[in-house]
Amino acid sequence: MTIRLEQQVEQVANALNSAGLCFGHGTDNAFDEAAWLVLEACELDPSGDEVPWDQVLTARQQASVQALLERRIQTGEPLAYLVNRAWFAGHDFFVDPRAIVPRSHIGEWIPDRFSPWRVERPAASILDLCTGSGCIAVALALAFPEAQIDASDISASALEVAQANVARYEVQERVRLLQGDLFEGLGQARYDLIVCNPPYVSDEIMNTLPGEYRHEPALAFAGGSSGLDFINRLLDQAGDHLTKSGLLVVEAGSARDALEAAWPRTPFTWLMSENGEAVVFAIEATELVSSNHPKT
Ligand SMILES: C[S@@+](CC[C@H](N)C(=O)[O-])C[C@H]1O[C@@H](n2cnc3c(N)ncnc32)[C@H](O)[C@@H]1O
Repeated sequence: MTIRLEQQVEQVANALNSAGLCFGHGTDNAFDEAAWLVLEACELDPSGDEVPWDQVLTARQQASVQALLERRIQTGEPLAYLVNRAWFAGHDFFVDPRAIVPRSHIGEWIPDRFSPWRVERPAASILDLCTGSGCIAVALALAFPEAQIDASDISASALEVAQANVARYEVQERVRLLQGDLFEGLGQARYDLIVCNPPYVSDEIMNTLPGEYRHEPALAFAGGSSGLDFINRLLDQAGDHLTKSGLLVVEAGSARDALEAAWPRTPFTWLMSENGEAVVFAIEATELVSSNHPKT
């Protein structure tokens, strides 16, 4: 049967919608995911600006699309894992279930070097805490060519994925991967910039996560009863690891309200994402040391 790429994408989008899947791992709707799926299956460049919508698909391409679509629907796995690829901050990364699929809002500010929050300030040393696949660390290395970057995670498996991405972008001279809990293993080091996309999902929300999320490591999400187990520890300790003019940037996601309630005197600056959400905060080292956790 003759079918053009555009028609194939529409068919796949309908099938994805009917299957009741969740789109939150690189796309946020069935059409975008269908386009990605079809382009990957047809071995066409999914990152290209010019999508060949009128191209007629070969029988082999159509069979590849059906096979990938069936895997996506039957397994419920995020498409990124099925094709071992995800985009983040304008770059594509190797991914597999050892680390979560890159999608942090933080990626929106990396190419512009967190402008205007840290314009003209030195960034000799950067820490990517909770590095997972290494997507933030590598994107930072590419945006801050002058910086040395430490990237840390408690999960040895996630660090294997990070290692693959560091090697892929040939930034191993400037990105050091470390395993440890929070700041463990980093000694007395201080950083000009600390970036962190931590686990922040509360126990209640953990129980309602869609099937796709259950293919990802629970360690990447689980933030305890209010989602703040990790972030509370981070805020208590980050001041000891920032330079005087340092900046901390953290994604708090669904834990934002709980965070503001728990830290009412801390002047978080919430950054507005392209989708209108404000779940990433920035805070200066000076503001951090002068505010205290009220509940400790
Ligand atoms: C939400 S994921 C972020 C991964 C990656 N930075 C990204 O944005 O895609 C959180 C990461 O924190 C790591 N993690 C969880 N608890 C940790 C801890 N106590 N210390 C260090 N890393 C931890 C998990 O292994 C996971 O890779």
